[in-house]
Amino acid sequence: MSEERREAQYPARLKALHWLVAGLVLAVWPLGYFIRFTRDEVKLDFYLLHESLGFLVLWLMLLRVGARLTAPALPDAAPGLEGVVARAVHGLLYLLLVVMPVSGFLATNAHGFPLSWFGLIPVWSPIGKAPEIAPIFSAIHAWSAWILLASFALHLLGVLYHHLIRRDSTLFRIL
Ligand code: HEM
Ligand code: HEM
Repeated sequence: MSEERREAQYPARLKALHWLVAGLVLAVWPLGYFIRFTRDEVKLDFYLLHESLGFLVLWLMLLRVGARLTAPALPDAAPGLEGVVARAVHGLLYLLLVVMPVSGFLATNAHGFPLSWFGLIPVWSPIGKAPEIAPIFSAIHAWSAWILLASFALHLLGVLYHHLIRRDSTLFRIL
């Protein structure tokens, strides 16, 4: 690997966190979406899995923000406006990956279903059952889910553009 190529790599901890969070989100998103179509006998299992894996995303993202802020600055993969767009999409993804688990967690508590993580560890919540505000958290959760999906689509388009059209090494920065 050339010196230039090595310098343009994300540090190993950021690569690991990127793929761990990506894998979780690609499982948690459809799990959340399909809950409504599941049979009653398995609905609670779907909720538990969705919420427990989603909650893990929150802690990994807090770790990731810390790792990102302390990592050496990486040069933009593209100059000018493209670089600005890429940074904006990355920033939006970071934000949504914190908003999603927090709004879901507050929604389920407000609806009166406190989270027991994988059915093993009861998680303390700053709010208890609060039916009057529960729909607000649910709405934030649902809207953010679609904005997350759209941002992820932009993210993938960006990666494909770099890889297939510009034919640069952007993809290899995170592998
Ligand atoms: C990265 C994290 C998460 C993602 C991407 C995610 C995604 C989703 C999606 C796509 C839906 C369906 C939305 C719709 O109705 O159209 C959903 C619903 C739901 N999610 Fe999550 N979720 C995450 C984390 C969590 C967490 C941590 C909890 C709770 C501890 C949670 C609780 C819920 C609940 C209760 C619903 C049912 C609808 C509602 O009442 O809001 N989610 N989620
Ligand atoms: C599944 C296929 C995926 C591929 C091929 C992919 C590829 C990449 C690549 C190449 C980069 C580096 C971009 C650059 O250096 O400018 C990157 C960064 C990033 N990706 Fe992905 N990604 C994927 C999934 C996801 C998912 C599911 C999410 C979150 C929902 C995500 C969130 C991010 C974020 C936030 C960054 C910025 C990292 C940082 O600056 O710390 N990626 N991704």
